[in-house]
Amino acid sequence: MSQLNKDMIIRLLSEENNEQNLWQQADRVRQENVGDEVHLRGLIEFSNVCRNNCLYCGIRKDNKSVCRYRMSEEELVSTAEKASQMGFKTIVMQSGEDMYYNKDRLCRIIEKIKKFDVAITLSIGERNYDEYKAFREAGADRYLMRIETTDKELYHKLDPNMSWQHRYECLLMIKELGYELGSGIMVGLPEQSIESIADDLLFLKEIEVDMAGIGPFIPHPQTPLAKEAGGTLELSLRTMAVMRLLMPDINIPATTAMESLHPEGRIKALQSGANVVMPNVNNSEYMKLYELYPHKPTQGFSQSDIAKKIESIGRCIGKGYGSHHRKV
Ligand code: 5AD
Repeated sequence: MSQLNKDMIIRLLSEENNEQNLWQQADRVRQENVGDEVHLRGLIEFSNVCRNNCLYCGIRKDNKSVCRYRMSEEELVSTAEKASQMGFKTIVMQSGEDMYYNKDRLCRIIEKIKKFDVAITLSIGERNYDEYKAFREAGADRYLMRIETTDKELYHKLDPNMSWQHRYECLLMIKELGYELGSGIMVGLPEQSIESIADDLLFLKEIEVDMAGIGPFIPHPQTPLAKEAGGTLELSLRTMAVMRLLMPDINIPATTAMESLHPEGRIKALQSGANVVMPNVNNSEYMKLYELYPHKPTQGFSQSDIAKKIESIGRCIGKGYGSHHRKV
């Protein structure tokens, strides 16, 4: 099944009347390869300051109506401690590209958080080799950075002043340094074709990601793309399901953006190939300020709510770190 070629992928992505079958098939492949455990990651969005100006993103530099925040070292470490006490075995540290957190500062933070016996995932964008290496040596285990799209022309339209090639090279550096690599895309970007999404999926397979995050693009009113249509939940779920068929044993999160389009979006995702959920552990004031797209949940879940939901669909919460185990 992981032999799907581009034409077959395009067909699966296009066939709206076959999507229920596709979702079920991805659910089966998920169960056979990674089992019924759902791994939870405690997400800390620690700064919404960003040097970039991606046209789609609510925290782009030119959005002057965002009130910017930055957690202090102490606050970030204590939030991580709280998350570990809640039972999270992975902490995801995410922020805009905020250079206030330089190499030394981040290494210090990583070393402190590592003492809580958790896996650490960084999601802080493009840095240089020396920094990636230092973070890895300080104890970071995984790195998330979406390629967003493999259509280079579209990428450069969407991310002025950024280079697709540079981002790609960052992903290769991260992999070489022995991080577990997470990447992914947005679905439903302006001018993005189904064919281009098929290329994206083949790209993620080619670079052998350990984790693939796929979510709909949701237009943010304070960005240049405010009037665009955005992606649908259904196409995002089909894309995610095909990803599961292509890479049966990787980690695939049920993304928050899916929940923003439908109250049960993440549950649907868990039943269509996903096996990871990343609950936000920030307080709701910070959550409101980290508005990448509208209707992003600004309320955390309690642990017991999450457990109940997961158990209600016959699944259980993962007990370990939830690392990727390659089957072949
Ligand atoms: N809609 C959906 N996803 C978005 N992201 C940023 N802006 C949006 C948006 N408007 C995603 C990008 C980024 C991740 C952190 O959030 O894919 O990599």
